[in-house]
Amino acid sequence: MSSGLGVRARVLRRKPIEQLTHPGSGMHRSLGVGHLTMISIGATLGTGIFVVLGQAVPAAGPAIVLSFVLAGFTALFSALSYAELAGLIPASGSSYSYTYATLGELVAWVCGWCLILEYGVSVAAVAVGWGQYVNELLDLLFHFRIPDALSQPPGAGGVVNIPAVLIVVISMLVLLGGAKGSARTNTILVFIKVGALVIFCAVAFTAFKAGNLKPFFPLGLAGMSAGAATLFFSYIGFDAASTAGEEAKNPQKDLPRAIILSLVVITALYCAVALAAVGAMPWQQFEGSEAALSRVLTDNVSGSIWPILLSVGAVVATTSVVLTVLYGQTRILYSMARDGLMPSLFARLSPNTGVPFANTIIVGLFIGVLAALVPLGALADATSIGTLFAFGLVNVAVIILRRTRPDAPRGFRVPFSPITPLLGVAFCVYMMFSLGAITWVAFLLWMLVGFVIYFGYGIRKANV
Ligand code: ALA
Repeated sequence: MSSGLGVRARVLRRKPIEQLTHPGSGMHRSLGVGHLTMISIGATLGTGIFVVLGQAVPAAGPAIVLSFVLAGFTALFSALSYAELAGLIPASGSSYSYTYATLGELVAWVCGWCLILEYGVSVAAVAVGWGQYVNELLDLLFHFRIPDALSQPPGAGGVVNIPAVLIVVISMLVLLGGAKGSARTNTILVFIKVGALVIFCAVAFTAFKAGNLKPFFPLGLAGMSAGAATLFFSYIGFDAASTAGEEAKNPQKDLPRAIILSLVVITALYCAVALAAVGAMPWQQFEGSEAALSRVLTDNVSGSIWPILLSVGAVVATTSVVLTVLYGQTRILYSMARDGLMPSLFARLSPNTGVPFANTIIVGLFIGVLAALVPLGALADATSIGTLFAFGLVNVAVIILRRTRPDAPRGFRVPFSPITPLLGVAFCVYMMFSLGAITWVAFLLWMLVGFVIYFGYGIRKANV
């Protein structure tokens, strides 16, 4: 169909919105606004608050509370854009689909390729965090730790990270059972992890000392910004509901609500947890502590039950991130395969459950291998830069669609467009430049591989 087109025309071709949303795609519409909000919270609240917070506090001091606000604003502007587009184009490809409708095939591919960083790579990192908390919990309960050889990747003192593989495989099996069952499991997990953080706040505030907050900016505004860039990782995932566009009962109204509601809940919770943490423990003592929140309780509050409860919450939290982010990754690849940019195997649905079966197994195994062999820290920043790039594109897509399709039905409209989406782009670019040089090199290499695949495969196979 496309063989007659020149390269320029091919990379710029766009997919009409109506073609992207696939009304009769075969996926089951079973998810309401509650499920969708839980998918976003489930995908977001995890390793960032339980692990990465400890790494960010030494960079910012007590101003870490404002770092969360700054990172939250970056997320908020993009969330508004996601809310508008998710209602307008409720396709399971999320921002990949939005850019296909607006900026053309090549940019859509780049966006989808970034989403593999956001979803696939981060889920491997989070699985590694899960393994660390399982070890922490075993230690607290039974004074036993899984030996490093079996719980750390090569390069971090181990051979293979078995716990990280385990959680990926379990999540893969849950997902193979169908979206509704997965959503129910996820909802239970979300209640437990939100509960654990609320208990943390209640207990840590009993040890609150105003003196711990002085000086508030020991490392200046630059420290606060660096903290925000690191903590951006903790907001990644609020867009996960948008990958459920084809399984939502009423996507036009419910997707925007779910995205904004989840972000408000998450930001409020993060700020409260950060304030409770730096109020209870002097910020200098966060240096080098992986299970930071557990340490705050162990060192500053009496009662050994609290760190145990918190660690249970952390294990549950990371479980639900793995589950929902893995879900998102399979749906994005499903969309890309349906468009011909990935092999068709990824788009084949099981007739019984409506689940992309082979896709889920391949993604699960691939991420399992990453989780087994790669250390957590190496991947978090790469995840953030890819995500920020995709978020920037979503903001641009809102501005373009307001011009090209002004009358298309929108369940939600970004207020003050184009100023708000432009601010969204500016925040994303600012955050990207707050990340280090090595992260940029890794990102550019990732992009290079993406271009090779697109020009070697996708450009010829796309079925536009
Ligand atoms: N936001 C996700 C987490 O914090 C990636 O685990």
